[in-house]
Parts: sequence; structure tokens; C-alpha cells
Amino acid sequence: MDYQLLFSRFAALPAHAPWSRQRQLHECLRSAIRNGTLSAGARLPATRTLAQELGVSRNTVLYAYDQLSTEGFVQPGQRGTVVAGLAARVAPPAAPGHSPLRASLSRRAQSVPTRDAPETPAAFAPGVPALKEFPVTLWRRLLDRAWRSLRTEQLNYAPHHGEPALREAIANHLRVARGARLEASQVFITDGTQGSLALCAQAFADAGDKVWIESPGYQGALAAFKAAQLKPVGMVVDDEGMAPTAADWQRHPPKLIYVTPSHQYPTGSVLSLPRRLDLIAHARAAQALIIEDDYDSEFRHDGPPLSCMQGLEADAPVLYLGTFSKTMFPALRLGFVVVPAVWVAPLSAMLSRTAPRGRAADQLALAEFMQSGQFSLHLRRMRRLYRQRRDALVAALEQQLGDVAAVHGGSAGIHLALRLRDPHADDAAMSQQLRALGIVAPALSTQAVGQRVQPWRGFLLGYAQVQVEQMPALVATLAGVVKRARA
Ligand SMILES: Cc1ncc(COP(=O)(O)O)c(C=O)c1O
Repeated sequence: MDYQLLFSRFAALPAHAPWSRQRQLHECLRSAIRNGTLSAGARLPATRTLAQELGVSRNTVLYAYDQLSTEGFVQPGQRGTVVAGLAARVAPPAAPGHSPLRASLSRRAQSVPTRDAPETPAAFAPGVPALKEFPVTLWRRLLDRAWRSLRTEQLNYAPHHGEPALREAIANHLRVARGARLEASQVFITDGTQGSLALCAQAFADAGDKVWIESPGYQGALAAFKAAQLKPVGMVVDDEGMAPTAADWQRHPPKLIYVTPSHQYPTGSVLSLPRRLDLIAHARAAQALIIEDDYDSEFRHDGPPLSCMQGLEADAPVLYLGTFSKTMFPALRLGFVVVPAVWVAPLSAMLSRTAPRGRAADQLALAEFMQSGQFSLHLRRMRRLYRQRRDALVAALEQQLGDVAAVHGGSAGIHLALRLRDPHADDAAMSQQLRALGIVAPALSTQAVGQRVQPWRGFLLGYAQVQVEQMPALVATLAGVVKRARA
């Protein structure tokens, strides 16, 4: 806290000019405590330090602290003088002639969907990996090593496309594990998929351009596109993924097409090969770009691993998005976009002005985690664990809810969809009731995009954090709510 600034502002007010320095300091601290500038529990500087900072005698500071303590504003203790908790704070008076600020976001921002605060410990909260299983000790060691290896110049603004070692590690991994075709120069590091989506919306489309999104679809993508003033168009999803018609191409020509082909979010459908090829061909003809969000494909539980769309054809019109939120942990906030080679130079030019990067140590630690083989090892362990949890959840759902609902899309990832057979079921109301019982199971109908497409009814169930033994009891709670709603 800069007390010099606080004090000089206070002392400069004309009403206080004739006061002694002691009185000025006392009043200055008192009003800072009363208006919340200094909050309960904050430690005031040592008297000698503050005297030096303000250029006053130590006795002046001692007097002010003593007075504040007598009045109950501060409490002297072994750890120094601490601001006391006061029942009511007094808001600072508005400056004359200034009307109070009204918090009203732009109309564009108001159209962006919001979401509840993350509730990670709650059962079935989707999108969160098994945080307890993450090898924290190893990660700390790698971070420590990365910090020790940093050169002074790496504390400066960093390359806007990310650390070369991490870009190289990602390119190597994607070639082998996802069948992608790329050079490291095509990889741009971001702060996770949310950052990648915002970047794609900004760099590859203009306000008013149409962007297709699967419906039901990922609300995070919808939020990014609305924030960029694009026009989202919801597209039907069936068992083979997104299913646009010839009329859709004619009536709603897209600039961007957002898909989750390996494990559609939230239904879990896998985009079939004929549809992948068809989408690429149509996108080429329409001069559109496909955004392939490959968020959880590292976890494939049944059948052979699927390659990504990006690698299906040379120079496919695909922006490939990856994230470390599921394979590592969400708070890492690291992801990436792989752009077609022709876009590397223009995107670099744009980012050089708008997106200085940093956090070199995190990126270098992750690069080592990947290059040393620890990443693959961790993925193998997690795949085994998630498959067990998926099996336990599917078994409990089929046993307890098989007559009224069907499991959908459990072949990959860390969530599945439970689709209710009743197309009019009020899944949103049931989801609310479940929340009160400690279960977070978002309603599929709330994941719809626009009104064009008939909503799915049911729930999105994340199982990565739920232990096998807990499944039957949690599913019994879910079944109780569903069956009561039908009664
Ligand atoms: C479809 C989809 N894409 C991406 C992500 C990850 O986003 P981020 O990298 O911003 O954490 C999620 C997280 O739940 C998701 O569901």
C-alpha cells in the first residue's frame, strides 16, 4: 500500500491544512479504515517505516496509531498493528457534480450467456478432470527446474506465439496421437480454448458474419462468438454429429463452423467420416473455416483412436483447438490453436500488436512434461481410471433409469449425456432440484443454440471426479428426481 499517496491526497484537502501532522495522519488513517480503503485484518506498516516513508517523526506516527487504537479502529498485537473489523463501512461521499456510476455492460456483452460459478467438488459437474489424481509433486519439480533455467531476458515480453519448446512438443504429440499434419510454426499458444475461440472469432470473422454451432452445443463457444458480434446459427446434431442440410449452406452461408467432431459437446456423438469429408469440401467451396474443438479426445474408451479432422486432408480449412484443461488441470490455462500454414504470417502480424505472451516457466515445464514421456504416462493412467468410472456410471444408469432414458456418447471423454425419452420432460426443473441435493447435472435443453433446432431433453453427467463406489447412490438420487417428475 502506498501510504505516501494516501497521506498526500488527504493532506492536500484544504479543510485539513491547519491541522497538525499528527492529527492529519490520524484522520487520514481513520477515514481510510472507515471507507474500506484499509480493510479489516490489514497490517499497518511499522511506525519507523511509515515515518520514513512520509517524512514525519516517529512520534507523529506513534501518536496516530495510539489514538486509533483507543478509538477501536486498530488493534496492536505481536504481529504489529492490525485494522479491526468494523460492523458497517461508510461509503466515500460522491464528489460534487458526479452522478454515481451505473454498472451497465455494452449491449454486445449483455447478449453473452453467463454461467454459474464452478462447483468442482459437486458430483457430475462436467468438464473437470480427476484433480486429485494429478501428479502435483512431479509438476512442482518441473516448474522449479523451469524457473531455474530461465534467462533474465525470458522475464521480458515473450514471443506472442508461445515458447518454441512447447510448440515443438505439441506438434510432435499431435502428429503421433491425433494424426494431425502440421509444423511447430503453425501452433499458437493461448490461455486455453476460451482464449482460442475469442482469437478465432476476432481474427477470422467480422461482426455480423455467420458462425454455425452444433445445437445442443458448447455455451463457451457461443459466448465467445456473441462477444465478437458474430451471428450464431444452431445446427441439428444426431447420432453422427452435426447434420447441416443443403438448404443450410444456401440460406445461412457460414464464415466459421464450430464443431466438436471427436466427442460432440454435450451429446457425445462422433462426427462420421462421410460427414467430416463433406464438411471439409463444403467449407472449401464456401471459403469458410472449420473450428475443430478437440477438447477431450485423448480419452477414447471404446474402439480405436480417431484421428482429428485437421489431418484428413493436406491444407484442410481447419483451425484446430486443443486444451490442457482436461489432460492436465483447468487452472493451468494453457491451450493452443493450429492454423493452416497460409494463415501463420497474417495471424503473427496481428498478435504481435495485440497479444504479448508470458508465463515462460509454465510453458517450459509443460514442454518437458510432454517431451519426457510423463504426459503420455499420465494420459494412460487417466484413461484407465475414466473408463472404470464411465463403466460404473453407465451400469448404474441402465439399471436404474433404463426404462425412461438412454445413455448417449459415453465412448470418449469425461462426460456422457443421459437423454430422457419424454421429449417434453422439464429437465431444467429437475436439474435445479438435483443442484439442491448436491448434484450438478446441467439440463441438455439449456445447451440449445437458438430456436431453430428441437432441444434435447436430459442431463450432462461428468464422471471424471466421481469414484466407482459412489455411482449407485448418486444415480439413485438422480433416478428419484426423474421418477418423481413423471409421477
Ligand atoms: C467443448 C469444450 N471445449 C473446450 C473446453 C475447455 O476450455 P478451456 O481450455 O477454456 O478450459 C471445454 C471445457 O469444459 C469444453 O467443454
